[in-house]
Amino acid sequence: MNRRQLWRGGHLVTLQEKQGWGLVPDGVLITEGDHLRWVGPLADLPPTLCQGLTAEHDLQGALVTPGLIDAHTHLVYGGERSAEFELRLQGASYEDIARAGGGIRSTVAATRAASEADLQVAADARARTLMAEGLTTLEVKSGYGLSLEEEAKCLRVARRLSSLGLTVRTTFLGAHALPPEFDGRADDYVDAVCAWMPRLRDEGLVDAVDAFCERIAFSPAQTRRVFETARQLGLPVKLHAEQLSDQGGAALAAEFQALSCDHLEFVSDDGIQAMARSGTVAMLLPGAFYFLRETRLPPVAALRAAGVPMALATDHNPGSSPGLSLLLMLNMACTFFRMTPEEALRGLTVYAARALGLPDRGQLVAGQRADFCVWDAAHPRELAYYFGRNPRRATVIGGRHAG
Ligand code: NIG
Ligand code: FE
Repeated sequence: MNRRQLWRGGHLVTLQEKQGWGLVPDGVLITEGDHLRWVGPLADLPPTLCQGLTAEHDLQGALVTPGLIDAHTHLVYGGERSAEFELRLQGASYEDIARAGGGIRSTVAATRAASEADLQVAADARARTLMAEGLTTLEVKSGYGLSLEEEAKCLRVARRLSSLGLTVRTTFLGAHALPPEFDGRADDYVDAVCAWMPRLRDEGLVDAVDAFCERIAFSPAQTRRVFETARQLGLPVKLHAEQLSDQGGAALAAEFQALSCDHLEFVSDDGIQAMARSGTVAMLLPGAFYFLRETRLPPVAALRAAGVPMALATDHNPGSSPGLSLLLMLNMACTFFRMTPEEALRGLTVYAARALGLPDRGQLVAGQRADFCVWDAAHPRELAYYFGRNPRRATVIGGRHAG
């Protein structure tokens, strides 16, 4: 049976138009099963929709936003890298550490040494921390296994996070770093990544394919080969692009109609124009910017002027962004990147959904999924204003209370 529920007394933040919060002060949501059947002011509620209700909820004037979406994480890994943090504080750079065999490689060793069950316990705890601040949809990348078996292990762990009630999308990031057994043979490793892709896809473990295009990772030519294989398999692509240097990765990804280009501190004007033409989302990651103490800002004003949609995510990972707070990302996107609070919230909802190719969520409009958060706040800009304070009262995922 399709449960029809009424949620009254909400201060709705619908984000339904291209601009503006879309506020509905005395708002009602009617959910039917896992979808929103009707959204609007109490005064306009059609009486027929109130027939056959299975439950009624009073939101008591609380703020209601679309559920938050973390569309870029590396949530499944073993170990931690606080010693590397100390080294960086003493002056070593992220690139120095990577070139010396630390960085991603050290997490690969710890991840390979961890059992699937242990990785699950750690990943579950991280996902629950994100859920405490309103997470309803989560993307998780592989990239710390770097062999067929180890990548599959991590992707299975990621997929099982859906048992927490979330929607989970998994991204194959085999081209994240060169594993030690392929030292000096990057092209052979890219061949291997391409060969694993159909197997992982056939096991139902891959929704999208990502790569790290950077001087300490893979070249544009190698990235192109990964993307060509993904295209043959019908898998959408995204890219870690222009994080530490301009490699022309954004333009390359746009050529493949990438869902998103992520980081982008060093993206060029050509890259921005290419993204605008292909409708690729700019995924900005203030946690990594902050934690690596970057000084080069992503070109937010130019992205805005070009009409490139901007999303935000935690980029949670043990090396460049060990944070697990979506609300802090809202705050940092405003303070560091000069995004408006409205742009920041859109970045964790509407445009995060777009970066995952999920058009059924991110706004409070009839027909979308009934994923929403209830907050103890009078105005949505407060979500970006506070930091270290969690005003979440409740989360509803697919029409069900999720805590
Ligand atoms: O998004 N840039 C590459 N990947 C991660 C960092 C991974 C790591 O350092 O373990 C990122 O920043
Ligand atoms: Fe990342």
